Amino acid sequence: MTQDIAISSASDLPAAGSTTASRKVFIKTYGCQMNVYDSGRMTDALAAEGYVATEEMEEADLVLLNTCHIREKAAEKVYSALGRLRETKKARAAEGREFMIGVAGCVAQAEGEEISRREPAVDVVIGPQTYHRLPQALKRARTGERVVDTEYALEDKFEHLPDPKKAKAGPRNVTAFLTVQEGCDKFCTFCVVPYTRGSEVSRPLAQIVGEAEKLVATGVRELTLLGQNVNAWHGVDAAGQELGLGDLLYRLAEIPGLARLRYTTSHPRDMDDRLIEAHRDLRMLMPYLHLPVQSGSDRILKAMNRRHKAAEYIALIERIRAARPDIALSGDFIVGFPGETDEDFEATLELVRKIGYAQAYSFKYSTRPGTPGADLPDQVPEDVKTERLARLQELLLQQQHEFARSLIGETIDLLLEKPGRLPGQLIGRSPWLQSVNVDAKSSQIGDIINVRITAAGPNSLFAEVAES
Ligand code: 5AD
Ligand code: SF4
Repeated sequence: MTQDIAISSASDLPAAGSTTASRKVFIKTYGCQMNVYDSGRMTDALAAEGYVATEEMEEADLVLLNTCHIREKAAEKVYSALGRLRETKKARAAEGREFMIGVAGCVAQAEGEEISRREPAVDVVIGPQTYHRLPQALKRARTGERVVDTEYALEDKFEHLPDPKKAKAGPRNVTAFLTVQEGCDKFCTFCVVPYTRGSEVSRPLAQIVGEAEKLVATGVRELTLLGQNVNAWHGVDAAGQELGLGDLLYRLAEIPGLARLRYTTSHPRDMDDRLIEAHRDLRMLMPYLHLPVQSGSDRILKAMNRRHKAAEYIALIERIRAARPDIALSGDFIVGFPGETDEDFEATLELVRKIGYAQAYSFKYSTRPGTPGADLPDQVPEDVKTERLARLQELLLQQQHEFARSLIGETIDLLLEKPGRLPGQLIGRSPWLQSVNVDAKSSQIGDIINVRITAAGPNSLFAEVAES
């Protein structure tokens, strides 16, 4: 499962070119990093048709909502955004200007025809496995057809997409996402992903290495490998030898010019020995791991079909920490899963105290129709969920601050990603994904510099260039 990020706009996408005659597309991305990656690839596919990306919705001829279906509110947000777009479309029609609306991503996959029925202003509904067909879908829509293309395509979309020449992840073009695996066969009982993203598929080794090399050639220094279950990635090498994510990381680490590797999101059951060895051996594999546990209660873990116990998770973390002592942990938690008692919830708090997270995402259980969890008895009342979430978040936030403060005075590597607010100031990422502000006049974006952490704010760190 990919970790949730804030809603992003087209600012994460390649910048618009300068052809004034071209049509403009504005993509609004909801949900996880894979959607951010997909939005970049949709921009590539549309660029081949003469579209340029814009960050201004007002100047767009096409607005695409790349949606997330993981929790209820996300889908509702999409429907209310569509209501607003319908009004824009009416106003544009009065001016005689084209304005097309597309819905992509997991809500598109899950709701399909229902979107066109509920919001007839939508021209195209396109799923996560068919977005390489977006140009054709738009052509069909221009003839008046309401296009819904959400089947699982038999062909591999990656083979039909243009090269990610421009998929430099926008302003922060020293970092990029690269999807290596999609879908999920785990069927956690709360989760829609196996239904919206389909079953687990790994991209072939050569395709991944090829895309990674192209990205590095455009100036990318840090790659984050993406997958709903990224550590379930498997492939074969040229000699027919079976490979896992650990082997893939060793292979990518050989690419000249690439400085950092990350991957997300993993399932505890797929953290195999080779992957732990990669954490031990590869300095460029960042010491930061997002490894969701969801709950600390064995009873709830069983009901969630997580297929591991709390003690196994803790033992796994101990092994990973033994291999890479500076590793920091991040996780996902759900409170108020059906049947969760006070005792179960206390077990979650206890697990959090034992592990010590540098960062975490926590959610109230949200009933997803069609998932087994939706039919379970003993749904937890909303006020109980609210109260538990507040307690959990207080603890997680306290741990996050403790971790940040523990770095004050430490010297760390910083990958400089973008200019800061003040002249001479740059913003980079720590190995643990924290944003770090530094005065570094003689350095440039893309450099990795040695800095000393001087202060830790609630959301970012401050540093000075370390004497070498
Ligand atoms: N309700 C609440 N949270 C959920 N997640 C997934 N499905 C649900 C749901 N039905 C959370 C999990 C997952 C993260 C991305 O979203 O914690 O790891
Ligand atoms: Fe992650 Fe479970 Fe959802 Fe698969 S079913 S994506 S493992 S939460």
